[in-house]
Amino acid sequence: MSYEMSKLAGRLVSSEIRELLKMTRKPGVISFGGGLPDPALFPVDDIIQITEQVLREKGYLALQYGPTIGEPEFIEALVQHQADFGEVVAPEQVCVTSSSQQGIDLLTLLFLDENSPVVLEKPSYLGSIQAFRRAGADMRGVPMDDDGLRTDLLEEVLDQIEKEGKRARFIYVIPDFQNPAGVSMSMERRGHLLRIAEARNIPIVEDSPYRELTFAGEPLPSLWTLAKGRGIIGMKTFSKMLFPGMRMGWLQGEPELITKIAMVKQSVDLCTPSFTQLILAEFIRRGRMRKGIEASRECYRPKLEAMLEALKTHMPEGVTWSTPGGGMFLWVRLPEQVDAKAIFPQAIENKVAYVIGKAFHCDGSGHNSLRLNYSFPSVEQIREGIRRLATVIKQALT
Ligand SMILES: Cc1ncc(COP(=O)(O)O)c(C=O)c1O
Repeated sequence: MSYEMSKLAGRLVSSEIRELLKMTRKPGVISFGGGLPDPALFPVDDIIQITEQVLREKGYLALQYGPTIGEPEFIEALVQHQADFGEVVAPEQVCVTSSSQQGIDLLTLLFLDENSPVVLEKPSYLGSIQAFRRAGADMRGVPMDDDGLRTDLLEEVLDQIEKEGKRARFIYVIPDFQNPAGVSMSMERRGHLLRIAEARNIPIVEDSPYRELTFAGEPLPSLWTLAKGRGIIGMKTFSKMLFPGMRMGWLQGEPELITKIAMVKQSVDLCTPSFTQLILAEFIRRGRMRKGIEASRECYRPKLEAMLEALKTHMPEGVTWSTPGGGMFLWVRLPEQVDAKAIFPQAIENKVAYVIGKAFHCDGSGHNSLRLNYSFPSVEQIREGIRRLATVIKQALT
């Protein structure tokens, strides 16, 4: 059968990294590839108990269609959750989503036509790059350094877009413990970014799934908080705080925008399951989310320390890496002549896996970089895996 499909279908390409990640399933391979939470943290017993309670007390709601915008009691719980973490958001500023990936999808549907300019960090989150690419958007990457997005270069990129007679539809950033770079945007850069966006009247999409996973003190104030919500579209998810399996998140923005988001969501899935929203609302009310986040921090901090220590011990000269203050990822830069994709088969042979850095660059650059995840493997696996990876890199350098 030959199908006649949409232009969008023509833009779909099989993800190179998913193909590479398939190899990581070989027995004995230590994978630093995915972005998975440690399943030892999953509060299975609590969820069993709360699920039974929800079904007994509110089965009539849990198994019914719900409002597109989200179940009122879940919105109330997440507004409280945000307040506990220092962020003020009003219920009318919220639209519940089936996790952040749906948030990205909805914003892509609302804002991006073919060739619409969209500005993003380089490197950036692969799932967003895929969604923007699917829309046929014109992605403009802005380099990062240890202080996050290079806002001086952002101005140049925006000037260039204006020179072409166009306007960026939004600036997409991941300011806290960025995936994949493992760095956070400095306070100064946050301020600069907000000034630039306001002066040019361009919305900022703030994607912040890792914000709560801080290992040393409080994270910097979010862009949402700094701008009091003006011109910011916040994207949140419970996936990385504790568990991704329920697929629960939300978008926060100005109420008029939320109404538009709800309209597009209606055509996508009618509503996020009431069932999971009611379970999570009760989970948050019981204070279990906060406890779970604290447990995640306690679990990941020593894993990051083990990875940093192992990198210091084993990596040859010329290899550098980020030192994240939280989150799940660490970014490694190899000497210019080493191609992370070319040495991937040797890495698999040596039973260690990572994600090639190129996949996170909207312009295909970044050949000599790679991303390592430390939340999923054990401390022992981290030590051994980094030793194996260093062996492969040393071989490539000889
Ligand atoms: C920066 C970023 N945004 C969004 C997502 C999507 O997460 P989810 O759809 O599970 O909320 C991820 C997942 O890795 C991510 O790293």
